[in-house]
Amino acid sequence: MNKILFLLTFLPIFAMSQEAARDALTVIHQRKSVKEYLDTPIPEEKIEMMLKAAMAAPSSRNVQPWRFYVVTNRAILEKLSKQLPNAAMLAHAPLAIVVCGDIKAGNPNRDQEIIWTLDCSAASQNLLLAAEALELGATWTGVYPFQDRIQAIVNALSLPENIIPLNIIPIGYPLKDESPKDKWDLKKVTWVD
Ligand SMILES: Cc1cc2nc3c(=O)[nH]c(=O)nc-3n(C[C@H](O)[C@H](O)[C@H](O)COP(=O)(O)O)c2cc1C
Repeated sequence: MNKILFLLTFLPIFAMSQEAARDALTVIHQRKSVKEYLDTPIPEEKIEMMLKAAMAAPSSRNVQPWRFYVVTNRAILEKLSKQLPNAAMLAHAPLAIVVCGDIKAGNPNRDQEIIWTLDCSAASQNLLLAAEALELGATWTGVYPFQDRIQAIVNALSLPENIIPLNIIPIGYPLKDESPKDKWDLKKVTWVD
């Protein structure tokens, strides 16, 4: 292949992949916990895109123990907002996704009792990043390992006993412009040469 043909073929691909890399980093650095939302409903395509991103997460032994409950029912969201003071913003969110783990997924062993939380955390972060990329606001609100919070969600969603909620993520179009926190801290890094 001559030089010009090579450049014509591969330059756009290099340019595209650099663009994609920059986009990914921009989204990562723009992500922030957003707790105030407009009433506007979230279109189904956006919900599916967030779920697809969540399911693209890495998973130990590729068990993929994550299960997602997509909640738009106002009565349930309002009830949960009262039972979970740490997630009071559910009262004003048009949507919440509960990220759960199936503790019986795969060939469950003692390790899997812990590992589902790691897989589901990776899925949650992907979901939060997808929300940011779609110009939605979202916040991880903690459920696991607090028994009272777990029980509130189990009751509200009638979860079977093998399904444990890790978190509940209220999602909506942001009410106002917000900036991400700057968490960069070189003191937290050790270089091993
Ligand atoms: C495991 C975990 C649990 C969290 N639980 C809550 C919560 O219960 N309620 C809440 O409002 N935010 C919760 N957050 C969001 C944090 O408060 C937030 O990520 C932190 O303040 C950093 O801000 P940022 O997400 O905007 O960077 C949680 C985040 C994580 C990772």
